Amino acid sequence: MNAIQRIEKTLAHALGETEGSLTPPLLARAMNHAVFPGGARVRPRLCLATAAACGQGGSELAAAAAAAIELLHCASLVHDDMPCFDNAATRRGRPAVHKAFGEPVALLAGDALIVLAFDLIGRAAARPGQGQKAGAVLRIVAQSVGAPFGIVAGQAWECEPQVDVAMYHRSKTGALFAGAAAAGAAAAGADPERWRPLGAKLGEAYQVADDIGDAVADDEAEMGKPIRQDTALGRPNAVRELGVEGALKRLRSLAEEAIAAIPACPGADALEAIIRGESKRLVPRSLAVYAA
Ligand code: IPE
Ligand code: IPE
Ligand code: MG
Ligand code: MG
Repeated sequence: MNAIQRIEKTLAHALGETEGSLTPPLLARAMNHAVFPGGARVRPRLCLATAAACGQGGSELAAAAAAAIELLHCASLVHDDMPCFDNAATRRGRPAVHKAFGEPVALLAGDALIVLAFDLIGRAAARPGQGQKAGAVLRIVAQSVGAPFGIVAGQAWECEPQVDVAMYHRSKTGALFAGAAAAGAAAAGADPERWRPLGAKLGEAYQVADDIGDAVADDEAEMGKPIRQDTALGRPNAVRELGVEGALKRLRSLAEEAIAAIPACPGADALEAIIRGESKRLVPRSLAVYAA
């Protein structure tokens, strides 16, 4: 089974226990809608690639960490699309969860996915010999989504009158990427701090690419979500700061910095392939010629 298959299987298993059970049906369907079909699954792929590079790609704890990270990402998108945040009607080419199921169910689906993520890690921790490593994974994942440096803090910066853009991007996007790399290492019993810089750089690159897409893409269907939102919502955006050429240059150099941050290991080639693939995929087709 390859990494994507393991991620999908672990997610399906986790969600399967919610659906068809005593869970209120709308909540179960909304949770499912938020997770399937997925997007690029880039964070769990990074987590598993890191675990593999540390010699433990096949471990159940690594799969649980990867799936937990994706569940938290999906939950963050459900909440991010709600009218009190970005008020986005579409996500991954389909109605956003609040459009399909209403705001109360969307809020609760996001909450339930967050809890499910930590339950997955908790279950992996209960397996013999996994407790200590799972404890490290749990803390890394929690810090990636909470305050002061995780997604919640990143979203909260949008409510402040003064925003440090680097801090905003690092928290709302970089933290979960850094956490994905660090959690993969921790699940393998390796030093998470050696791996965190790679994830942080890739996360920063990802946000620059997302900013370019928001500012430049002309095909909303290709993006699967509303475009030109950053200007409309008054959000900091790399294109507004650096111009299109400047943002593309920044994306290229961040991708190179991410590659340079890969610790020497047997899985370095697979990690480099993920980074190169993502930095190409994320640039809108109209600009792809500049992205090579
Ligand atoms: C979207 O993340 C939000 C950002 C932080 C840019 P992704 O682009 O990874 O979304 P999916 O999971 O592939 O849909
Ligand atoms: C969202 O950032 C990142 C989250 C923490 C959810 P954006 O608002 O820029 O992402 P998109 O464009 O909606 O995917
Ligand atoms: Mg947002
Ligand atoms: Mg948004």
